Amino acid sequence: MRRGDPAHDRTFRAVVSRRAVLAGGGAAAAGLFVPGRRQARGAAAVGFRPVPVAEGGGPNPAISPDYRYSVLIPWGEPLVPGGPAFRHPPNAADQARQIGIGHDGMAFFPVDGSRRGLLAVNHEFGFTAHVLGKPAPESLDDVRAAQHAVGVSVVEIEEAAFGRWRTVDSRFARRVHAGTPVAFAGPAAAGPWLATPAGNPAAGTFNDCASGFTPWRTYLTCEENFNLYFGAAADAFAPDEKQALYGLHAGPSYFGWEAFDRRFDLGAREYANEANRFGWVVEIDPFDPAHTPVKRTALGRFKHEGAAVVVGRGGRVVVYMGDDEAFEHVYKFVSADDWRAMLGRGESPLDRGTLYAARFHEDGSGEWHALTAADPAVRARGLADEAEVLTFARLAARAVGATPMDRPEWTTVGPDGHVFLSLTNNRERTAPDPANPLAPNPDGHIVRWRDTDEHVGTAFSWDLFRVAEDTHGTEESFSDPDGLWADPDGRLFVETDGSQKDGLNNQLLVADTATGALRRLFTGVAGAEITGIATTPDRRTMFVNVQHPGNGDPALTNFPVETAVPDGATVPRDATVVITRRDGGIVGS
Ligand code: FEO
Ligand code: CA
Ligand code: CA
Repeated sequence: MRRGDPAHDRTFRAVVSRRAVLAGGGAAAAGLFVPGRRQARGAAAVGFRPVPVAEGGGPNPAISPDYRYSVLIPWGEPLVPGGPAFRHPPNAADQARQIGIGHDGMAFFPVDGSRRGLLAVNHEFGFTAHVLGKPAPESLDDVRAAQHAVGVSVVEIEEAAFGRWRTVDSRFARRVHAGTPVAFAGPAAAGPWLATPAGNPAAGTFNDCASGFTPWRTYLTCEENFNLYFGAAADAFAPDEKQALYGLHAGPSYFGWEAFDRRFDLGAREYANEANRFGWVVEIDPFDPAHTPVKRTALGRFKHEGAAVVVGRGGRVVVYMGDDEAFEHVYKFVSADDWRAMLGRGESPLDRGTLYAARFHEDGSGEWHALTAADPAVRARGLADEAEVLTFARLAARAVGATPMDRPEWTTVGPDGHVFLSLTNNRERTAPDPANPLAPNPDGHIVRWRDTDEHVGTAFSWDLFRVAEDTHGTEESFSDPDGLWADPDGRLFVETDGSQKDGLNNQLLVADTATGALRRLFTGVAGAEITGIATTPDRRTMFVNVQHPGNGDPALTNFPVETAVPDGATVPRDATVVITRRDGGIVGS
């Protein structure tokens, strides 16, 4: 359905009329939020001169003339000065002591205010041809190099000069990768679903997509498309309903690890259940390099995008989460008690609480439905206890009638309590739905809502923030929203991952949440997505990531080396970009 089609016009009218209802007295009388009312701080001064559409599709990155950028920690740089230098392709031993590939979600943990800190960075994935320089791994050594290129890096960085940062020697520097020992905690940890017949210890995290961080200064890394790493000979594996729901199937995997590492072979009986050990949110203490990363099962197992943490009523922590696949769901976790009290008792606030999935209604209202084995509808789907519900949360979300969404990616919480959610696209949608109003939806949209009871309630009111298609052909043009961050002043940073319209590369835009108006701050290079976002406490330095530049092809880009290098092509390298305002002001202003 496209603009101009009668069906589109109907949907558009429905959206407009619902917006009018939400903004009117009816919503206020019903005790719902009124968009814009508490946005006084949202006179957010998005005042910078934007990158024009005409300049946002070039061979090199472009940035607002009021800003500048520099490059930090490209793939393969040593974790600390003097470590093994980048070479291509990497060997497994070196790669375990170097920055990984596929920079994605990240967080900045201050060590010395806004001048020095720990940057925790996800390494989501690298195309095999990019990482190894060949189309598929040919040995266990190749697989190990690829396994060491993903996961998480923790690096200590300092500001060498305003806008220029460097890594420093640090006892905190660390790589967590697909072979690092990990632990499980929470209701599903001891369940039969996470035990393998061979009793092999739990290890590794990969396809770490977006991220979050907690009030107690830990990092959350979120496992997304784990199914792409598991494969089997055609006749050696037949998925049951639960496995099929997570995309596990017979045949070779996308990354081909199972050819040399039986842990990833779905047909290997001694590793049955190994795939259930992925698809979790993993907590890492960046200030303790000996800390074993912990998979927090209370947050459920799905294709996690990110984990936006906010403290709600009664000091309970609330974690908003998307499950990024077409027709999957939006979730939130609410801790059982005040997070300080739980930590004081030696209990993780992320180990006991309630996991919910969201249902959006036509009238702008919605509810959160608890996913629990006490619910007969959940038990009717064959989920017998809490461990099984959490391990197969997708099935529980279906059981409670959660709304199938257009690929839920990042969430972020604004200063007035609005939660924003990017829905990146859904070409498979054939029928529009109030919260997913385009069918198909090739370019995505952003929904926002506000929960009752300071995030812990089970009711919410929602509306559409922006629909990407509405911006095409204008200077606000964007598609495929993915990374989001709401700053404390009423700005919403929007990162994109997908083919942009109007000749643009993937980009970083800043919206004024009071008006919805968008300005383009930064554009990347061909083949790359822009993802991950963190700032220093003073918000005068922002870190974002350029992931899979050129999709690894030096014919498309040599990023971060500007094209064209005098002595020929160089392998493009995923990297973090440091963004500052030329006048030292707050980024986004
Ligand atoms: Fe890893 Fe949905 O992006
Ligand atoms: Ca993403
Ligand atoms: Ca994406």
